[in-house]
Amino acid sequence: NWTMVNIADESIEAVREQVGHKRAICALSGGVDSAVAAALVQRAIGDQLTCVFVDHGLLRKGEPEQVEKDFVAATGVNLHVVDAQDRFLAALDGVADPEEKRKIIGREFIRVFEEAAREIVRGGSRGSSPQKGGEDAAEPVEFLVQGTLYPDVVESGGGTGAANIKSHHNVGGLPEDLQFKLVEPLRSLFKDEVRALGEQLGLPTEIVWRQPFPGPGLGIRIVGAVTRDRLDILRDADAIAREELTNAGLDRDIWQFPVVLLADVRSVGVQGDSRTYGHPIVLRPVTSEDAMTADWAKLPYELLQRISTRITNEVREINRVTVDITSKPPGTIEWE
Ligand code: XMP
Repeated sequence: NWTMVNIADESIEAVREQVGHKRAICALSGGVDSAVAAALVQRAIGDQLTCVFVDHGLLRKGEPEQVEKDFVAATGVNLHVVDAQDRFLAALDGVADPEEKRKIIGREFIRVFEEAAREIVRGGSRGSSPQKGGEDAAEPVEFLVQGTLYPDVVESGGGTGAANIKSHHNVGGLPEDLQFKLVEPLRSLFKDEVRALGEQLGLPTEIVWRQPFPGPGLGIRIVGAVTRDRLDILRDADAIAREELTNAGLDRDIWQFPVVLLADVRSVGVQGDSRTYGHPIVLRPVTSEDAMTADWAKLPYELLQRISTRITNEVREINRVTVDITSKPPGTIEWE
């Protein structure tokens, strides 16, 4: 599609002009917007870009690897990975209130990103391969790359404010000593154009076609307090649901497919030959245009059957699978 080739070429040229010989950083979330923005800027300025990936332990199965391995392989980007799983779990310890969880996750994300950014600004990190680059190491880090899309620009009134990490957590600005100029190469594009651009740039399909996923991740798909064990249970169930949806060829028809663990609820079941007292999970497939309203998706019974059978067979702690048949409104897409 030559239009996309044009958009890619023009955007790459524009980024080169804007950034010059300075350095830039960006935060990768595992989502399509930050990934396409980073890939584009990488094409434009190469090793002058360092990406930060905060692994907060709230992503779905395989997603950290998609960023750390597949994205890096596809782009050759300098990636600075921060394993912050313990820190996030500690901060979330015992917290069940949804808004409290959001606040904590947003706050910790910003703190971890700031620490990583300071290290990069000081020149302490050149990404995962410290030998790489080098000739531009003396250049200051002046730019922050963000995957802002056209609908975000319209929503926020069109202004380019101080740097914030909107694409990830919708949290506020960075401190004074970390003020960057913004590079927003996707500012004029809609989501479908961003996906086309991502394919044009050779990004992995799983990243380009990833459904919208909330910044606080699985943290707000566990009803109850977040623990490592609960995350593992939810990740296993979610992976099965996603795999079956993909196998049924329906993943691009479904806007989002949250799988929610009712961690504080137990019900009696019988698995194998014994009575169990396990947790229910909720399947929440929805169709939508923009997430403002949504319909519950009428997935084929055979598909629901397969997901239910597999989850109760393969995830020991789950003995009941339910489907949420509430539209938005009155229900939200997420349970928290
Ligand atoms: P609800 O649940 O309000 O969600 O119908 C609407 C859309 O927003 C996503 N969502 C979030 N995204 N941070 C995010 O980045 C959040 O705290 C958050 N909460 C909900 C949700 O997945 C859906 O796409």
